[in-house]
Parts: sequence; structure tokens; C-alpha cells
Amino acid sequence: MPEIAAPRGTHDILPDEFAARRWLLDAHRAVAESFGYRAIETPIIEATELFSRGVGTETDIVEKQMFTFEDRGGRSLTLRPEGTAGTLRAVLGAHLDQAIRPVRVHYAGPFFRAERPQAGRQHQFTQVGIECIGEGSPALDAEIIEVAWRFYAALGITGIHLQVNSLGSPEDRARYRSALVGYYTPLQASLCDDCRRRLHTNPLRLLDCKRDAALVEGAPVLWDSLDRASRDHFTAVVRDLDAAGIDAIRNDRLVRGLDYYSDTVFEFWHDALQGAQSSLGGGGRYDGLAELLGFPATVATGYALGVERTLMVARALGTLPGGEAAADVLVCSVEPGQAEAAAAMARLLRDAGPRTVLDVAERRLDRKLRAAGRVGARVAVIIGENEVAAESVVVRDLEGRSQQTVPIAESAATVTRILGGDS
Ligand code: HAM
Repeated sequence: MPEIAAPRGTHDILPDEFAARRWLLDAHRAVAESFGYRAIETPIIEATELFSRGVGTETDIVEKQMFTFEDRGGRSLTLRPEGTAGTLRAVLGAHLDQAIRPVRVHYAGPFFRAERPQAGRQHQFTQVGIECIGEGSPALDAEIIEVAWRFYAALGITGIHLQVNSLGSPEDRARYRSALVGYYTPLQASLCDDCRRRLHTNPLRLLDCKRDAALVEGAPVLWDSLDRASRDHFTAVVRDLDAAGIDAIRNDRLVRGLDYYSDTVFEFWHDALQGAQSSLGGGGRYDGLAELLGFPATVATGYALGVERTLMVARALGTLPGGEAAADVLVCSVEPGQAEAAAAMARLLRDAGPRTVLDVAERRLDRKLRAAGRVGARVAVIIGENEVAAESVVVRDLEGRSQQTVPIAESAATVTRILGGDS
């Protein structure tokens, strides 16, 4: 029978990879919490409507990339392709914004998009993100960017390119939409099918099209359609970023792939990901999303960063921490007759603190000691017939290559001393 493989576009996170992810997730949590963000977790399956209304029916995500299915009651459900709509639904549904504004939350977890799998692009991937809900100050757009910036710094990642832009207010975008339609209409014949269709329903998406990139060059610039208030908001964000020592590159073609944004949008890029042609993370302000989801109008801003892509960059830059040993101590018996004493010893050591592996294999002692090396143990505790009789154990320092026989009562202290570096 053929072996069963992991589904296309997914991969297993094996223990070494898990350690690297934990390092990243811990760093994100620590940085977000240092700014007063609190952890939140929302369901992985959501009503499909959350995304069709929230992310937008004319986006690539909703049109082509969602894993959607019917539950047994015939309701349409979707594996979440992103976390903003669900987080906003959760926060506003629980009225958290009535107790405190803004509500600052952070999250981490799996997301799903049926994109063509390649390096840094998977069907199942992981994001860390934050959302800051209930206040419209440009200082908060700058704050969330600073959180991400500090997160990258905590991972030792340098060379991040931050691109920022403003999409303005709904009125600004209506003006810009007309300008785009005016520009693209005479060019309709040369547009790809998606762009021709979206020209009259969602022309902003044309700026995001890879196939018609050459035409984007001559398109009108969004900034020219922004009113005074939108320009002031953007200028304030750039000023605050500057004050925080964060270099931002203005990219007036940046529109993002999701429809819910207004005013500030941004993306993080890194040269180490060049081959993948994709951003490391992104976000922005989404003041209109709450109403699209049926809630009272509530302004908000946030970001999400791709965990796998960030790890690719950390790996390329050599900032990943070294592999972690599975255990500090290996306990083994010389013969099966001392197995019970060995198990009791392992329990005693775990109670005292050291991570302890119990070797239960029936094999020669030298083989058991080799296994100690493979789990990364610094100390082996060996129990033979004589030790059982004398209520003692042999403690071997595998690095210092010395050993001593100590009474069971002193074994934990001896092991701890060796692990602490003074044998
Ligand atoms: P997004 O730009 O669609 O934004 O995704 C954010 C990040 O998720 C990307 O920059 C990328 O690193 C990662 N990502 C996306 N798709 C894939 C994939 N197929 N494979 C691997 N990584 C991927 C959002 O999702 C918004 N919710 C961000 C946001 C939060 N805006 C406001 N608040």
C-alpha cells in the first residue's frame, strides 16, 4: 500500500522546526504584550459570509483561494484565509470596545489559502498578528508598525523594507475609482480577463494585477485623489514613524490584496525573499469593516506577518537559535532487573527539575550511553545490581567524562550541580 503523505500545500512541523517557531511566536507575544496587547483566539472555521463581505467578493482570496465547504446543516463554512474579520467579529460581538478603547489584541495560528504552492506559499500557513480596535488616531497606525518593527529586531532580522501608502477615505477612493476607469477603459482590449471584469466592479484591484503590471505604470496616482484630512492622517503616520526611528518607503501603488482597507496601508519586504516575490507581512487601517460585518461603525488598524516567510528570512540571515537538546539526563539500568529502580530514579529527578529521559531498551550499556548523546543529555544516571543493593547510583558527566557513585538521596543535587556547570 502506498504511504499516506501530508496534503498538498501543507507541511509537518517536526521538532527542530517547532523549536524555531516557538522562538518566533514567543518573541511576537513578548513584543506585542510589551505594548499592552492581549492574546485572543478565534475559530479556524467561520461563516463564509464573514470573508465574502469582509475581504470582498472581487478579491483573489475570496474568488479563488478559499477552502469552502457545507456543514451537515447546509451552511457554508470556510477555513479562515485571514484573521482580521474574525478578530473584529469576536471583539465587537463581545462588546469589548465598550469597556476600553482601543481594544489591543494579538494572535497567532493557522490560516488557509488555495494558492499555487511554492517556497513561502502554502495552503496552510501561520500568521502572527495584532489588531487595535476602536480608535482612529494615526499614532496607532504608527504604533502597530513599531510593534512589527521591534518584533523583527527581536529576531535579529535586519534589512526590512517597510512600504507605506494611503488609500484615503471612501470618498477619496470613489474619486480615484473614476480616474482609474477613465484611464483603463480605452485599454480594455489589452487587459487580462480578471481585470476586464473588475474594471467596473472593483478597479482598485487592477493595480494589484501581476499580468497587467506594465499598464499600472501609467495609471493615475491615488495621492492626487486624497482630500486634506486623508493627507494629514498619512503625514502624521510618517512623522510618527520617523520619530520612532523607522524608515518607511512611500509606495503610491501599494493597495493590498484585501478590500477592507482605508487610509494607511503597509507591507514589509525583505531581499532574502526575492525569489518568492512576496511580502513578509502587511496590514493597515480598516475603518469600514465593522459595518460591512453588520456591527456599529468602529475604526481599527492592524497587521499580520507570515511565520514561515519570517523563518525563511531568519534562516537566510543565520539568526535562528541553535537546536535545543531534548533532555538533560538519561537514566538507564544495566540489566532489566534494575528497570524499576531506574524508573523511580527518573521520577525523582523530574521532580527535582532536570528534563529526564528513561531508557527502557534491553541493550548493552554502551549502546544506552550512545542514546544519551542523541537526546542531547549532559548526564547519564546508571543503576546496576550493586547500586540497587547499596541504594546508590552512578552519575556520569558525559561532557567531563568523569563519574561518581552517590547515594540516591544525593543524586538529584549531584546531577543539578553538573548541569549547572560545576561538576
Ligand atoms: P495578507 O497580506 O493577506 O494580510 O497576509 C499577511 C501575510 O501572511 C503575508 O505577508 C504573508 O507573509 C503571509 N501569507 C499570506 N498568504 C500566504 C500563503 N499562502 N503562504 C504563506 N504565507 C502567506 C492579511 O492577512 C491581513 N489580515 C493583515 C491585517 C491585519 N490587516 C489588518 N489587520
